[in-house]
Amino acid sequence: MNQPITFRDVVCCENIEDKENLISRLVDSMTLDEKIHLMAGGEFREMLKPYGAVLFEAGGNRRLGIPPIAFTDGPRGVMLNHSTCFPVNIARGATWDTELEERVGDAMGKEAAAQGANMSGAVCINVLRHPAWGRAQETFGEDQFHIGEMGAALTRGLRKHVMPCVKHFAANSIENSRFFVDVKMTERTLREVYLPHFKKCIDNGADVVMGAYNRLNGEYCCHNSHLLTDILKDEWGFDGIVVSDFNLALRGADAADAGLDIEMPTRLFFGRLLRARVEQGKTAESAINDAAIRIVRKLAGFARKNDPDAFNEKVVVCREHTGLAREVARKSVVLLKNEHGALPLKRDNIRKLAVIGRLAKVANLGDTGSSIVSPPYAVTPLEGLKRLAGEDMEIMFSDGRRPGHARRIAREADAVVVVVGLTHEHEGEYIPVMNMVGDRSCLSLPAGQERLIRAVAEENRKCIVVVEGGSAVTMARWIDSVPAVLMAWYPGMEGGTAVAEILFGDVNPSGRLPVVFPRLSSQCVLFEKWTAAIDYDYLHGYRYMDKNGTVPMFSFGHGLSYTDFEYLSIDVKVIGSGGERVIKVVVEVENTGGVSGEEVVQLYVSYPGSGVERPVRELKGFKRIELDPGERGCVEIAVDPQELAYFDEGSGDWIIENIEYEFSAGSSSAEEDLVLSNTLSLKREKLSERMSKTE
Ligand code: BGC
Repeated sequence: MNQPITFRDVVCCENIEDKENLISRLVDSMTLDEKIHLMAGGEFREMLKPYGAVLFEAGGNRRLGIPPIAFTDGPRGVMLNHSTCFPVNIARGATWDTELEERVGDAMGKEAAAQGANMSGAVCINVLRHPAWGRAQETFGEDQFHIGEMGAALTRGLRKHVMPCVKHFAANSIENSRFFVDVKMTERTLREVYLPHFKKCIDNGADVVMGAYNRLNGEYCCHNSHLLTDILKDEWGFDGIVVSDFNLALRGADAADAGLDIEMPTRLFFGRLLRARVEQGKTAESAINDAAIRIVRKLAGFARKNDPDAFNEKVVVCREHTGLAREVARKSVVLLKNEHGALPLKRDNIRKLAVIGRLAKVANLGDTGSSIVSPPYAVTPLEGLKRLAGEDMEIMFSDGRRPGHARRIAREADAVVVVVGLTHEHEGEYIPVMNMVGDRSCLSLPAGQERLIRAVAEENRKCIVVVEGGSAVTMARWIDSVPAVLMAWYPGMEGGTAVAEILFGDVNPSGRLPVVFPRLSSQCVLFEKWTAAIDYDYLHGYRYMDKNGTVPMFSFGHGLSYTDFEYLSIDVKVIGSGGERVIKVVVEVENTGGVSGEEVVQLYVSYPGSGVERPVRELKGFKRIELDPGERGCVEIAVDPQELAYFDEGSGDWIIENIEYEFSAGSSSAEEDLVLSNTLSLKREKLSERMSKTE
């Protein structure tokens, strides 16, 4: 007779086939109630605890030793207690540094595990379709290729310690109407624009996917079998868990039939109601078994990690992590404009520095919804400037509320730094009961801040503007009146130091925009925050502007440095064969300026002669390179030919066309910045055939 199986037996089993077998036997030995118990969060009273202060638990089974899911949130750090607060995702997107992002994931994963979590909801990778989206700060930017690379790096880092949860699946990029909006799009747009970055994170080890609140083509995402079963589980072979977004994402127990495995954070439908459906034959017991198998599989994988940092509280906000937060902040700040050598500020030339604006004195860390992180300290821009100014410099401050005072200190000073921007009062998650704002209504700064910039700039020509916020801000009404502008995003607990280091030239700025900054909001696609239904077209962001021939204020990928880079050569060739084939692009760059710096080499592809609609050009690779003055160096970028394929709705296949692909390299997506190009022809190929060839 077979011995009863326990969770421990599954964890200890080395062989994958045997392990799968044990998992099935373990699940077979469970009652229907026990299996359904695995599929939901705690009782409703759990929700009365302060949000996010404790772990959200789900499932578990004492009899068999199955631990519960222990979820914590936080794209910019761990939500629990006082953890390290990194710059928000969009700021980290502006680093274009996947190696750095993997280290951030590793640090966050360690801090999550140290505080008892086994799952992290940090991997927010929705496409920033329009900069007014309230949660823009929680994603990496507007470009699906770039988001995919950054999200995959975060996933790899987190996975060393916890189960990464990728969210929100899918097409969740309007906040106010998120609980009801029906987002409609063609299958091609879905596959090419709104899903590929999810697939990339899953291929890089994401164990969990969170279903979104919104509807997709008529069906709520957590009830959408095309999304959860056909694409995610069957086509992509995802063997992990699908959890719901928290509260209001489920409309009934039938979500289990569509492929949803866990209802979070409390048990409303996946309890007695789900059991009744099974007993009435409406939900197949095989769906329950499948969910239970997935949950046990992933929990066993996690238990096997046996992480030495689990429950090691010493790693939380350790020096290494706060140092990492500073390193990320340094690389994420984008120098948008710098005329007449306004920056860096030279300490020797400045006796008096005026710092103006309420936000200079605020630790502006971002939204206060589900992404909130409360670090034990945070450096404001004013503190950073004071610490780094040196003893001989006098720093004068005005919060800008008395314009006369602001003007007076600006007049007296040798240079002025104005800190303006958005806060959680202007953008963030939409939570009606908590009075939280959601999407923005316009893309400009609040009118008072624009007036303040113009007033100060009238008094002092050396007026540097530092902008904070979660995505693009329009600047047309004031930018011509100032010589220099920095985009600092929500720069995390060490942000004030990083901003000051860049202003004084101790650090050379190297951030690049992960979202196009329009001149006018009319250059963007339509956005209505209260809409009940919306069509998402194939193009948005820079691709949409390129098609319309409109020139933005700052291109996607734009960012200046205190040095200059010259692009010298580009070489494009195919290496390997069959499924192993890769396009290898080598770009040579020289630092022709006077200081060391880092350039983000960007690679865009165009499709002249394509038989289907394509963007004018789109990002397909990027890499950072650090060069000393006069130094030359090469970056090597590998492009998987699959990245060039389009989705053919007729056949449901991905097709590489037989055309000459044009590869352009440069410092942004703007045509004038793409100074090098080269072409490469590929043969027509259907990816399904290619896969069967390589199998
Ligand atoms: C958000 C998710 C988050 C969850 C738990 C929801 O309101 O949409 O992103 O993971 O809350 O905090």
